[in-house]
Amino acid sequence: MTSSELTLRLARPAEATAIASLSRDLIEYGLPWRWTPMRVAASIRAAEVNVLVARIHGKIAGFAIMRYGEDDAHLDLLAVAPPYQRSGVGRQLLEWLEKCAIVAGIFSVALEVRAGNEGAQRFYERLGYHTLAHLPGYYQGVEAALRMGRDLSCRLSDHRIQGTQH
Ligand SMILES: CC(C)(COP(=O)(O)OP(=O)(O)OC[C@H]1O[C@@H](n2cnc3c(N)ncnc32)[C@H](O)[C@@H]1OP(=O)(O)O)[C@@H](O)C(=O)NCCC(=O)NCCS
Repeated sequence: MTSSELTLRLARPAEATAIASLSRDLIEYGLPWRWTPMRVAASIRAAEVNVLVARIHGKIAGFAIMRYGEDDAHLDLLAVAPPYQRSGVGRQLLEWLEKCAIVAGIFSVALEVRAGNEGAQRFYERLGYHTLAHLPGYYQGVEAALRMGRDLSCRLSDHRIQGTQH
């Protein structure tokens, strides 16, 4: 995949079902399906939420949902379809959403990840996230979560972000 094949943009309401299906299959497997098409569509409409899709050759390769508060942001969901994993799509999705947080003056991001999902934990660690807490039974009593977080103030030194502030 070359960088010119990948596009990132905000999701459209018609994409809610595809996004919800990716969540069910890649994130919520073995759990009750909570991120239904209706809930994803509500996030797409919500002013304080960015639902971002990565598209390659017209297909959704991945998506991420971030909710922005007064002082911090929360990554609700992030997934990359298996054929596109380990090619930088997840990193680009997350960094795009982090950049929005910084532009809005928000420098703290948190997320929860399934305790058994070690691949995702390594991914978040690689992107600068640290474990903040272990939350037993967080996923409907079925599985524990790790809460992870990142202080984004270190990204202020990122040349590209400094450029957006002028
Ligand atoms: C976790 C996930 C989002 C990562 O997305 P991705 O596009 O595959 O990740 P990237 O290619 O951007 O990875 C960036 C770096 O993170 C690390 N990383 C990514 N996936 C990893 C894994 N499974 N194991 C170890 N390290 C990993 C690597 O250092 C990688 O760089 P490299 O490939 O040059 O070594 C993706 O694997 C996925 O969607 N998994 C299923 C759903 C899921 O677990 N979502 C998270 C729910 S909280």
